[in-house]
Amino acid sequence: MSARARAVALKTVVWAVCLAPLVWSVWRFVRGEASVDPVEEWLHRSGKTAVLILVASLAVTPLRRWFAWNVLQKSRRLLGLFAFFYAVAHVGVYLYFEQGLAWSFIWEDVVERPFILSGTLAFALLVPLAVTSTKGWIRRLGRNWVRLHRLVYVAAAAALLHYTWGQKADIRDPLLVAAVLAALMAARVWWSVQKRSRGGSRVRPGSAAG
Ligand code: HEM
Repeated sequence: MSARARAVALKTVVWAVCLAPLVWSVWRFVRGEASVDPVEEWLHRSGKTAVLILVASLAVTPLRRWFAWNVLQKSRRLLGLFAFFYAVAHVGVYLYFEQGLAWSFIWEDVVERPFILSGTLAFALLVPLAVTSTKGWIRRLGRNWVRLHRLVYVAAAAALLHYTWGQKADIRDPLLVAAVLAALMAARVWWSVQKRSRGGSRVRPGSAAG
């Protein structure tokens, strides 16, 4: 299989896997199989999906390096954009259906509930990352693009804090995802230390954040 065919196959799989939660939710809703509170159901599904895809996007570079699967790199931007897509759908449902766009209540929620504050921080960090993910912004920002996109780790940590805080009792799922994120961050630190001890090689913008 040629490199191009492999890239196309990978992107097709990413599209199919990332769209599955949305298609599943619409399917359940249309068939009347959604829970008694479909808004609540979507809030949970979109939030979880956003976190999982975000962490998956951070796993791309380590997996590429460990297994020398260079083609994987082609999926990173797409995964990041899908994570943002679900985050927008999640926040949109909260703002419109849960709070009826009542900005004073929304503000109260943000300042009074650390759980909502951490979600807001995660979202606020994801916005500039999504906006600057185009080739034009990568060119324009140069090395600053790499610095800016390191914020994805802070966004993921804030999202996980939000996920953990939001659980009523059982926090095993968010802790499991947090362990994966910690391992990915440790791998990143390890590589930076190694690179520095070797005298440092140049990092291409658009290739270093994950
Ligand atoms: C303005 C920003 C945000 C607000 C106001 C918000 C609000 C909420 C609310 C109201 C819930 C449901 C809590 C419950 O019913 O128990 C929730 C759950 C959740 N949110 Fe957010 N969220 C925000 C941003 C984010 C972002 C950016 C992510 C991920 C990248 C995220 C991931 C999650 C997860 C994983 C859950 C838990 C789902 C579950 O337990 O099934 N949220 N969020």
